[in-house]
Amino acid sequence: TGYVTLDSGYKNTGATKSAITFLDGEEGILRYRGYPIDQLAEKSNFLEVAYLLIYGSLPTQTELDTFAHQITNHTLVHEDVRKIFDGFPSTAHPMGILSSLICSLTAFYPKSLDPNQSPEETNLNIFRLIAKISTIAAWSYKNSVGHPLNYPRNDLDYCSNFLYMMFAFPTEKYEINPVVVSALNKLLILHADHEQNCSTSTVRLVGSANASLYGSVSAGVNALWGPLHGGANQEVMEMLEAIQQDGGNTQKWVDKAKDKDDSFRLMGFGHRVYKNFDPRAKIIKKAADDVLKALGIDDPLLKIAQELEQAALTDPYFVERKLYPNVDFYSGIIYRAIGIPTEMFTVLFAMGRLPGWIAQWKEMRENKEPIGRPRQIYTGELERDYVGIEQR
Ligand code: CMC
Repeated sequence: TGYVTLDSGYKNTGATKSAITFLDGEEGILRYRGYPIDQLAEKSNFLEVAYLLIYGSLPTQTELDTFAHQITNHTLVHEDVRKIFDGFPSTAHPMGILSSLICSLTAFYPKSLDPNQSPEETNLNIFRLIAKISTIAAWSYKNSVGHPLNYPRNDLDYCSNFLYMMFAFPTEKYEINPVVVSALNKLLILHADHEQNCSTSTVRLVGSANASLYGSVSAGVNALWGPLHGGANQEVMEMLEAIQQDGGNTQKWVDKAKDKDDSFRLMGFGHRVYKNFDPRAKIIKKAADDVLKALGIDDPLLKIAQELEQAALTDPYFVERKLYPNVDFYSGIIYRAIGIPTEMFTVLFAMGRLPGWIAQWKEMRENKEPIGRPRQIYTGELERDYVGIEQR
């Protein structure tokens, strides 16, 4: 049935045409809708970037205000969602809770299942998802530590409201720190899209069967959770802590990562597409320095990360293979500085990546792409006769 080309891991297969994100891995260039990532990280905010990715151009002030208002309007989740939270043990990983609860939105908004839904209905689901992901994420943390849940505050901007829901405690006054809000905006922007990575391809593949936005994004969350993908940010932090406990000998850990008999890899290093510095890592590295200074934090793990990076970048193994720090290498240092617990790092990645997933799902629908259905090279038995169990 035709000629099949094998490309394990899709290293060289273009699965779609897309007008959302431009990525040049050799040169280390990343642009959303043509705008360089460093300009967006410096000058924009997360909701503006979300609008840009989803609708294709930077919004006017009125468009942005309307978009932000629509999202604020939907931050509450149905009270019955709280009951689902109650069913999870406090030890549940927040990524599992996140994917389950995003999928559960199909039950609360059944019109989202209609493949022929109007653009207005699609927009409504987009607003709901961007709004509710922050409430679900913050509540999954509060649930894990056994604290009372904070209801969203509509007088706050997107990032401030998330921080409030994460950290406010009924008996204490919660002050929003502008340094922390700005750091969070920057991190979410840097994670917002990255063309056809594993989770985005998952969202597109699931969506190509005309599955709902919630169902498709829920699948994307599970893909992102993997330690080779978004889960790497949690692994980086755990690796840095392990190095610290081990006496801080970074060269020893670089050697361990080179050892082919050891399955350990230097987490936060290497990338399928970047064979140069990941432009996001450059920005995050500087931001980590700035945020720690602004908050007056002296984190010994930052020093370990810097030493580890230096040791790897000067090692022929990493040089020959063009392995550079990726987006996950320094992001955890900032998350830690702003009080985000390690288990929540990948959830923050998911919140950042959400506009990208939505934009890609919407683009695929609008372009009426066919169902995704890769082929294979069959390597099994050609044909054999069934043998009764007593003769085997
Ligand atoms: N430590 C040690 N060796 C590595 C590493 C690493 N972090 N990354 C790649 N290599 C080696 C690999 O062993 C292989 O060596 P050889 O040619 O001798 O067999 C060579 O470099 C090429 O690696 P690959 O596994 O064929 O490359 P890939 O494109 O399939 O994998 C990757 C890319 C990101 C999964 C991989 O670099 C990796 O596992 N990195 C660590 C996990 C990580 O940081 N993931 C986050 C990725 S960026 C953000 C995101 O997507 O979420």
